[in-house]
Amino acid sequence: MNPKFMLFVLLGPQGSGKGTQAEYLEDHFSIPTFSVGAGLREEAKKKTRAGKEIRAIMAKGMLVPNEYSVGLVKKRMKAKDAKRGLIIDGFPRDLDQAKALEAVAPASAAIIIEIRDKESIERLANRLVCETCGMNYNTKTRKPVVKGICDKDGGKLKHRADDEPLAIKKRLEIYHKETEPVIALYKKMKKALFIEGEQPIIEVHEDIVAGLKEQFAIEKVRKTTKKKK
Ligand code: AP5
Repeated sequence: MNPKFMLFVLLGPQGSGKGTQAEYLEDHFSIPTFSVGAGLREEAKKKTRAGKEIRAIMAKGMLVPNEYSVGLVKKRMKAKDAKRGLIIDGFPRDLDQAKALEAVAPASAAIIIEIRDKESIERLANRLVCETCGMNYNTKTRKPVVKGICDKDGGKLKHRADDEPLAIKKRLEIYHKETEPVIALYKKMKKALFIEGEQPIIEVHEDIVAGLKEQFAIEKVRKTTKKKK
């Protein structure tokens, strides 16, 4: 693995803005994002035994077995566009996944976006997702220009199948039980960057960029422009 490979993991409770901030970081650092949840939703569409199993587990808000999630991450890391680095949204979510990731590519920083459970529930109830490109909207805080239509590609905006009360409750329970120990591990490894998530989207982004610079000396590589002769 390239020693300059930048690997960011984005963690935080459901609806904390991992996907939203991943889009901003992708633009800022010019490295791609991989949402493990989105990758699994693609797998779940397949009419295979694995697809059916993944679909049923996700609908209940439970974690999909590690063989699927770890496999997807490893594959994504090998892609050509991920030579300089990768931003992983929603992985690792338990200690086994964290160990598997550290063995393949150690994280440069784990960005933890913190919000209260009450805020999670409120945001997910108002979330809309583009059925074509997966871009996130919110009926209160991030409205599309045209109601029900994606600004980026004109796709239809829908509620996500697992954004319903029982599944949200289960997802938050798993987060506290399985993912908080992962955060404690990153803290012990001095790789954790804690961010206040209950502030406007752009301010969350600015705090992440500032935190990466101050705590880890990681900043955007400026392009040098050659002088014309
Ligand atoms: P995944 O798709 O990753 O869902 P999640 O972790 O539940 O996170 P969300 O996508 O719900 O929230 P988010 O933090 O990305 O917030 P967002 O930016 O959308 O995973 C889904 C399922 O896949 C899991 O339940 C599991 O089954 C499976 N899975 C995934 N990873 C796995 C793994 N590693 N192992 C095993 N199984 C796995 O924002 C939410 C809303 O809030 C949006 O409407 C947004 O516009 C709004 N918003 C964002 N930021 C702000 C802000 N600062 N202020 C106000 N509103 C905001």
